[in-house]
Parts: sequence; C-alpha cells; structure tokens
Amino acid sequence: MAEDKSEAAWAALMALAARPGAAEIRPLFAADPDRFARYSRQTGDVLLDFSKTALSDEALAALLALAEARDVAGFRARLFAGAAVNETEGRAALHMALRAAPEDQFSAGTENIMPELLAVRARMEEFTRAVHEGRILTAKGERFTDVLNIGIGGSDLGPAMVARALWNPDAPLRGHFLANVDGHAWAEMQAKLDPARTLVLIASKTFTTQETMANAALARDWLRAALGEAGASQHMATLSTNLAATGAFGISPDRVFGFRDWVGGRFSLWSAIGLSLALALGWDAFARLLAGARVMDQHFRNAPLAENLPVLLALVEVWHVNGLGYPSRAVLAYDERLARLPAHLQQVEMESLGKRVALSGAPLQRASGPVVFGEPGTNAQHSFMQLLHQGTTPVPVDFILVARPDHAHADSHRKLLANGLAQAEALLMGKDAAAVIAEMRSAGVAEAEITRLLPHRVFPGDRPSVTMLLPQLDAFTLGQLVALYEHKVAVLGALWGINPFDQWGVELGKQLANVILPELSAGVVQKPHDASTAGLIGKLAALWPEGRA
Ligand code: F6P
Repeated sequence: MAEDKSEAAWAALMALAARPGAAEIRPLFAADPDRFARYSRQTGDVLLDFSKTALSDEALAALLALAEARDVAGFRARLFAGAAVNETEGRAALHMALRAAPEDQFSAGTENIMPELLAVRARMEEFTRAVHEGRILTAKGERFTDVLNIGIGGSDLGPAMVARALWNPDAPLRGHFLANVDGHAWAEMQAKLDPARTLVLIASKTFTTQETMANAALARDWLRAALGEAGASQHMATLSTNLAATGAFGISPDRVFGFRDWVGGRFSLWSAIGLSLALALGWDAFARLLAGARVMDQHFRNAPLAENLPVLLALVEVWHVNGLGYPSRAVLAYDERLARLPAHLQQVEMESLGKRVALSGAPLQRASGPVVFGEPGTNAQHSFMQLLHQGTTPVPVDFILVARPDHAHADSHRKLLANGLAQAEALLMGKDAAAVIAEMRSAGVAEAEITRLLPHRVFPGDRPSVTMLLPQLDAFTLGQLVALYEHKVAVLGALWGINPFDQWGVELGKQLANVILPELSAGVVQKPHDASTAGLIGKLAALWPEGRA
C-alpha cells in the first residue's frame, strides 16, 4: 500500500519533469519577482537559495508529496530514536549523538549512549588541554609542536577538511594527515616532521584497514628509532572501535579513545576520530564545531519538511537526478579554506548513495546518487567550468559563499564573491544569439566571422545551481554546513529506498588486493585472473624485480 503510494508520487513527479519546458529556469524568474524570497530558506547561519533551479511550485509540491509518500518524517524519527536504520549491518546511525549537549537524550536501541559518549568527550578534552598546557610532554620533556593523523576515508577526509578550513596562525599544533599507503606520501611526511616533537594518532574505526595499519607500522618504527620503545609510546594514541586490536598494537588504554560501531566512518569526524582537530585547532574550536552541527541536527529533527534545509536540498537532488536526468553535481566553494570539502563530500555522498539495490534487495527502478566533484572557486573556472557552461549535459552546482573573510584583503574577497555570483548567473541566464551578435558587432567583427563563431559563443543557460551562504567561516558555521550535507544524504536514502549507511561496494577491491599482494611478492601470477590483470602483474614483475619479497 505504502509502495503504491510512493510509486504514484514518483509517477506524478516524473510526469511533471517530462513536460516541455520543465528544465527551464529563466521563465520562473520572469514570472515571479519574489522567487529569491520564496525559494530560499535560512536556518542558523546557513542561507539556502534554491531559486536558480527549475522547481516550480507544482514541482516542489510533487517533491514534498514524494517525501510524504516515502515517509521521510518517519525515517527521520527512527534515525533520531536510534533504530537500526543501517539495516544491512543491523546498526543505528547516531552521529548526531556525538555532537549532542549533555542534556540531550540519545539511545541505540534501548541503551542510553550518552554517559559513555560524554565520558569519551571529557577524556578527549582533558588529553587535548594537557598537551596544550604542557602537562603531557614529549619523550624529551618538551612541548609537542605537530600532530599527525594516520587514517583513510572517514578517518581522514573529514578531519583533514576541517583542519584545512579552520587553520589559523595561532593554532596550538600543526596538523598533518597521512592517508595513502603510497610510500611517497610517508616519505614526504617524514621529511616534514621531527619524531621528537610529533604526536601520532592512529585513526581507524576497524583498526584493520590495510593502508592505515601499514602507515601506522612505519610511523611506529620511525618513532622507536628516534625515541626508543618507551619514548615512542608517549608519542602515540589511537582512535578506534576495536579496542582489542589497539592493545595488540601496543597502545596503552589511557591513550585509546573509543567510539561505537553506530558511528559510520564518513560521519565520524565528530567522534574520537576528531581528536586531531581538537589538538590542532584547540578544544574550544572542536566544541564549537560540534555545537554548530547540533544546530543543524535540531533543525533537521524538528522543522516541517517544506522548511527543512536538508530535506529541500535532497528534493532538489531528486529533481535533478531523477526528474531531469542529470547524473553529476559539482561543489564549488568560493573559499580556499574549503578546498578539501569536495573530497569529504565525495565520501559522504558517493559512499552513502552509490547503491543499485533497494533495502529489499530488489534492483532500483531509477537512478540513485550522482557523481560529485568539485574544486574551490575561482580555480574551477579555469579548469572544468567550460563543460558546465557549454557541455551537452547540465551539471547542477552547489555554490558555497562566505560573506566576511578572515583577512584584510577586501578587494580580493570582492573579486572572489563577484566571480561566484557571476558563475551562477551565467549558468542560469546564458547568453543568446542576439546578445552574442550585438557584442561582436560592437567589437567590429566581420559578419562572416560572426556567423562562423556564433554557435561557439552562445551559452544555453537554464543550468541549475543552489547557493549556500554563510556569514563567516568558523567552527560553528562549518559544523552547520557539514551536518546539512550529512542529513541531506540520509533523506536521499529514504527517498530512494536505499541504505545510505553501509558501503559493501568497497569490499571486493580490498579482497582482491589481498590476493594480488602475494603474487607481486612472488613475481608470478598464482591465482586465476582475467588476462589483463595477469598480463599487468607479469609486466610489473619484469619492470620492478626488486619488488619481490
Ligand atoms: O574502504 C572504505 C572504508 O571502509 C570507509 O567506509 C572508512 O571510512 C574507511 O574505509 C576507513 O576505515 P577505518 O576507519 O576502519 O580504517
């Protein structure tokens, strides 16, 4: 019955999207001088402007009807209630609890998770303050100057993104992030760091991830060579759910900061995994980050669907992906400090929404998560924006603008903002043949040349974007922004009927790497492979004979 209702809602939506002119945006602005006011919403510090999309009142109503039919409100209630919404792993998804205030209530199933969670947070704070205040010192009795986080995926991307975004010259420690198992990454890092001054955090939810374990072993050897075994242990801490494995690695329990399996890797920057942030930026900044995310949690939890920023952002995505068939989306933050945001969102969105079967196991009848990519503006304008303006398939854009900079170069900031606004306007308005002809004529271009160049110089326009505007970029506003995207992903999971909290698709490659690894060591193919893989293993063995172990 519920399924019938949502199929009817999908059908109504798709019928609207199939109407001639459904993808046109300019007529909507022409018809409605209040479109910006009516198609933007503010909560906390985040203004979401979704007016530059082809959503009509009718399409928005159809999307909201879909959200009702898909019981997004019911899903949201189960999410916050700690139900096992991650059905394929039998777990809750309670990253919101990590940023809860002490008075908030969160349970996983019937277990009150707040006491343990607040206790870990208190230990993180005490450790952070002790390092900053010199109560925890290096093996040589000096202050730590650098913190190195070794982790990958969610144990790297979120913290690395935030550390980059909130770095400031007064930051208490220099933060570094090592993810790739590529030895070049370690060699580069090692050259930058002094083991006698560096605190190493090994961040891994499972504490089994091949890349992280390999890098952790290299770092431990590096510390031991410089400081001896006892000294090295003063320079290490681990952030993990796998307490047995951290013990086996030789980390004493007072240096282990735990979290639970209901924290998904890509949602874990708020947990002990965020310790690198607290150390690099200061405890108060980390606490403000959590507080900002909580503002968005409360909004998401309580606001009606039609006023709810994560829900609206998800509905815009459905309109683009399913209604209009746009298979990708770009994230353009006009703020250099957000350079790593697209990488973080790629994991949050693509690992969550890159699914081809519904919760029931049945193949999806419609597209799910789009490809997400991005670069900071204005750099993107000089690389891939050509395709967004004149390519064959529209690519919706998330523009992120920050009103007030944290530098004194107002002219640079005006130029940055002008470019961001201009890109969105150019995508929307385009440039028609008449305007191109007039421009070329006034520049004295010959008529034959105008005719030849005209098709190349026309911009089709009607290319959608949303804009998120923050008053400034700080821990509090960044927390709100990141949580907005997290909840958007959860809503899309409910709308598409998929599990946004598992990631089975990353397993096969890991298994095969473990098959191929001994073959590279032996220099011969030992297991059946496709002819290409077998051929390449043979070539590698010939090109790198020293690689045999
Ligand atoms: O391979 C994907 C993944 O499982 C991510 O989901 C996760 O964030 C990452 O690996 C790292 O996992 P861990 O924190 O357990 O080392």
